[in-house]
Amino acid sequence: MRVACLGGGPAGLYFAICMKLHDPAHEIVVFERNRPHDTFGWGVVLSDETLDNLTASDPVSAKTIRGHFAYWDDIAVHYRGRTIVSGGHGFCGIVRKKVLNILQDRAQDLGIELAFEREIDSTDELADYDLIVAADGLNSKTRTEHAKAFKPNIDARACKFVWFGTHQKFDDAFTFIFEQTEQGWVWAHAYQFDGDTATFIVECTEDTWAKTGFGEMSQEESIAVCERIFAKYLGGHALMANAGHIRGSAWLNFPRVLCETWSHGNIVLMGDAAATAHFSIGSGTKLAMESAIALAEYLHSEKDMASAFRRYEDERRTEVLRLQSAARNSLEWFEDAERYLDLDPVQFTYSLLTRSQRISHENLRLRDKTWLEAAERWFQESAPGDTPRETRPPMFTPFTLRGLTLKNRIVVSPMAQYSAVDGAPTDWHLVHLGARAQGGAGLVFTEMTCVSPAGRITPGCPGLYAPAHEAAWTRIVDFIHTQTDAKFGIQLGHSGPKGSTQLGWEEADAPLKQDNWEVMAPSPVAWSEHNQVPREMTRPDMDTVRDEYVGATEMALRCGFDLLELHYAHGYLMSAFITPLTNRRRDEYGGSLDNRMRFPLEVFHAVRAVWPEDKPISVRISAHDWVGQEGVTPEEAVEIARMFKDAGVDIIDVSAGQTSVEAQPVYGRMFQTPFADRIRNETGIATMAVGNIHEPDHVNSILMAGRADLCCLARPHLSDPNWTLRAAARIGYEEAAWPKQYYAGRDQLHRLAQRAETFTGKV
Ligand SMILES: Cc1cc2nc3c(=O)[nH]c(=O)nc-3n(C[C@H](O)[C@H](O)[C@H](O)COP(=O)(O)OP(=O)(O)OC[C@H]3O[C@@H](n4cnc5c(N)ncnc54)[C@H](O)[C@@H]3O)c2cc1C
Ligand SMILES: Cc1cc2nc3c(=O)[nH]c(=O)nc-3n(C[C@H](O)[C@H](O)[C@H](O)COP(=O)(O)O)c2cc1C
Repeated sequence: MRVACLGGGPAGLYFAICMKLHDPAHEIVVFERNRPHDTFGWGVVLSDETLDNLTASDPVSAKTIRGHFAYWDDIAVHYRGRTIVSGGHGFCGIVRKKVLNILQDRAQDLGIELAFEREIDSTDELADYDLIVAADGLNSKTRTEHAKAFKPNIDARACKFVWFGTHQKFDDAFTFIFEQTEQGWVWAHAYQFDGDTATFIVECTEDTWAKTGFGEMSQEESIAVCERIFAKYLGGHALMANAGHIRGSAWLNFPRVLCETWSHGNIVLMGDAAATAHFSIGSGTKLAMESAIALAEYLHSEKDMASAFRRYEDERRTEVLRLQSAARNSLEWFEDAERYLDLDPVQFTYSLLTRSQRISHENLRLRDKTWLEAAERWFQESAPGDTPRETRPPMFTPFTLRGLTLKNRIVVSPMAQYSAVDGAPTDWHLVHLGARAQGGAGLVFTEMTCVSPAGRITPGCPGLYAPAHEAAWTRIVDFIHTQTDAKFGIQLGHSGPKGSTQLGWEEADAPLKQDNWEVMAPSPVAWSEHNQVPREMTRPDMDTVRDEYVGATEMALRCGFDLLELHYAHGYLMSAFITPLTNRRRDEYGGSLDNRMRFPLEVFHAVRAVWPEDKPISVRISAHDWVGQEGVTPEEAVEIARMFKDAGVDIIDVSAGQTSVEAQPVYGRMFQTPFADRIRNETGIATMAVGNIHEPDHVNSILMAGRADLCCLARPHLSDPNWTLRAAARIGYEEAAWPKQYYAGRDQLHRLAQRAETFTGKV
């Protein structure tokens, strides 16, 4: 086969080598516009796993590459005058130029033609070749030339960065340095890659970059400013530029590249041309070289080129998307770094280390047990009103709000049971909620409990508007308070436009088949085309609803609930006021956010006035309508939370969605936690995270990174009322309080968990 590799970076060169190793009869030319020793950048990082892959495909070049590695194990974070070092991270760095020279030599030894200083402007110039591998990098001309086929999606990310080198030693740790300047924060990623040189990438937000004037500076001027900013870490050494081919300032915005397809006729994209992964997870070279290995293999294992391309896309795309997702988490962390710059250095470091979400809490323990235990101790010491213990997982650290102390950070999220009769909870609720309170969670919530008959979602929803309701709830509160040490919160709500619908296991959100009641909302906007158009609320309607909330609150107090939550999420009445999707009012209750928040805040103030000072109130919000700029965005949710904080709300329960049938939510592990994180760290109010949190590891890492203060689990508690007690056994925590009737079960569970650990070699 006659093969043209367009681009002599890691992808092009390594693909050429792999092809030749599969079949020396291939005629291969690598076209590279630069000379053999020209390259941008300084060092690259590769993991042990990648090196093993390289060794399996070409032991000769892998051995030489290994011989030139600088290894290090620690990550050091310099922040607010402290240096925090954690170990066990295992990286190796190598000069990018060295990798390329090793690959060039190896290619030549194998008989591959290297055509340097050959710029290829169009794939038409390569018409004689059977196969064209477009490994022409980030700004791939081939991708642009055939954009209609490849359908690239390029997202220029928000931060500015520049890649320098330095002879200052950073050989003891991969180093992050955060420095505050008058114009904003500037940070560096520094790592050693040979005996006397280190990569030193400087990054900042576009705002800081503009205020500093970096855009108008030459490379030399930028260097001088960065040398001043990082002077105390550079030990008198200079920063050096190595991007002579880039005109102007050399500062870049990282472009995240995705392509809908990677092949077109006999042309195939590879490496950065096909997909990029942010430099902060150090995987660009890995992706490029591993894709080269895969394509070369499939071209020999599959029946024809089209099948090989198909398999290449199928198999590599998953890996690329996985890395890109981690890379996106990581780059977004840096884009939002200023949000975290008020955190304590320990928590800041934890947040930085876990930013890509590839490293979990227990994974950090494996890397550096001593560091993690010290961080866990810090977490306990920082918990208000707690008596710190020597070792205790973060999820078992108590949490105090006003006069309420929860024994741990696990919350049974509100979950409708549709099993009330005329608004009164039944024995179902006693057993269901009682079992979950026995199961170890610190706080158990009722489902949405409605403030009036018309405010119910379904005929099976419970309420708190009649003496019989108060009596039935009191029985459940008494059980939980006398038989368990869980705290019990009530979620109060009004269904608004989503009322008068069928039970959850019938056709949820669809109107009743008969006996519908009239529903009302801020505006006459139906939930869907099948639901009734609600009546637009008048001011007297608002007075009534406000008073109903107050009445329910007074009953909740007499029942003995410990915490009150106002359900202002999921498209129900208050949420319908907050989101512009359903609030179309032209009076002082619609339009601006101040206006849309007016009635929900009025109800909060009325409720707060009758709820005792020492008992907290939470508000659940939908922090994202998932409909783009038309609805509530995570950014607006920060403003919403800030308004609740200023009004005196103690904690925001950060949910999302269910406000529009048009919503396009993006699900995934802990998918709503970023909103809780943003609200907590941009406004300073405590948050509860919820949504697909199902492992103790998720909870511990959310808490330790300061992304939320409490974690609500809903569905996991439907399948296992004892989720918390089981989690305690799994992570070897023996002090979680079990009902004494169940001690024998506790002892067995802990014994079994210990044995499982022994078998898997974890202890
Ligand atoms: C600041 C920064 C830090 C990074 N750090 C790391 C790291 O630590 N670890 C890591 O693994 N990766 C890192 N990367 C990413 C890594 O450099 C790339 O992902 C990797 O080089 C991709 O290899 P490639 O072969 O696809 O592209 P490139 O290395 O960009 O190679 C493309 C080649 O094609 C040539 N070329 C382009 N167009 C033409 C043309 N028309 N005609 C002829 N030749 C052409 C170019 O001159 C170039 O040599 C970093 C990237 C940046 C920007
Ligand atoms: C059966 C069921 C009923 C629910 N009812 C309510 C409710 O009454 N009030 C509420 O705010 N959220 C309700 N939710 C949403 C949950 O509290 C939670 O936000 C959501 O299920 C995501 O958490 P999870 O991934 O842990 O299940 C309900 C969820 C389920 C599964």
